[in-house]
Amino acid sequence: MKEQLEQLQVEALEEIKQASTQKALNDVRIKYLGKKGPMTEVLRGMGKLSAEERPIIGELANTVRTTIQSTLDARIEEVKAIELEEKLKAETLDVTLPGRTLTPGHSHLLQQIIDEMEDLFVGLGYTIAEGPEVETDLYNFEMLNLPKDHPARDMQDSFYITEETLLRTHTSPVQARTMLEANGKPIRIICPGKVYRRDEDDATHSHQFMQIEGLVVDESISMADLKGTLEVFVKQLFGETREIRLRPSFFPFTEPSVEVDISCFKCGGKGCNVCKGTGWIEILGGGMVHPHVLEMAGYDSSKVSGFAFGIGVERMAMLKHGVDDIRHFYTNDLRFIEQF
Ligand code: DAH
Repeated sequence: MKEQLEQLQVEALEEIKQASTQKALNDVRIKYLGKKGPMTEVLRGMGKLSAEERPIIGELANTVRTTIQSTLDARIEEVKAIELEEKLKAETLDVTLPGRTLTPGHSHLLQQIIDEMEDLFVGLGYTIAEGPEVETDLYNFEMLNLPKDHPARDMQDSFYITEETLLRTHTSPVQARTMLEANGKPIRIICPGKVYRRDEDDATHSHQFMQIEGLVVDESISMADLKGTLEVFVKQLFGETREIRLRPSFFPFTEPSVEVDISCFKCGGKGCNVCKGTGWIEILGGGMVHPHVLEMAGYDSSKVSGFAFGIGVERMAMLKHGVDDIRHFYTNDLRFIEQF
């Protein structure tokens, strides 16, 4: 029986050595250590042994079993490592292959102008307001002193969705919304955003464009505050040496109303093709908030006053960079976009 066990061990260890896959090793385990294997058979035969022989053979059988078991375990680890190695080799990625390069983009020129304006006005203590592009007749017109039959509505003919809703024709409705929300408190906001008008598109007109609205409401706000504020922003955007000029104008929601010109940044005021020989370029509309507009939004116009302005973003970009057609901003031609 002793020889039988030793023989078994020799055979098992040899087979373990030969096996090179986890499956083959598992077969060896079942073959030698399984319930129907030779080890079980040997142990079953132990009953026939004498009392002296039994513990000796029992111990030997145990040693053989643990030797086979531990050799198997060690070999399994070896084979696993080899299999992993082979798998890794087969699946190797060539990390030196060049990848697909992504060209980093940049903000659109219009967004750059808006960002610059926002930075400037936030620095002056303003906050950024927003309003819906689908607007009601009430905010787009009526709360701004443009009742239903007002002739000034003609200049802002728009895309109507229903009788009472339309795509906003300017960012000015955000004035009314902000005032109602502020509930009598002081206001300092700018609001950049898209606006729409039923225009024939040409080099200087587009049915969709962008504006930046400004509104300040507080005690003793005067035209001097408006002028000072506009001067700061014009110098920031168009250069330190720019002057501004206020001309009387008309908007239903401001009284008095002004149109604002800047001294031509190309010729410095002498007259050239950019300023059409006048030395001045018109850049925005503004004025003192009409008392009626303040009252409609719940302010006491005998106690507070305000100023407002509206700037065309495309117009500023065109002036600043000599862009000759507004449609360049929207056609996404990289030859244009990459210049800024
Ligand atoms: N909403 C006017 C427009 O689109 C521009 C404007 C003029 C805005 C005067 C203002 C303002 O806030 O005070 O033509």
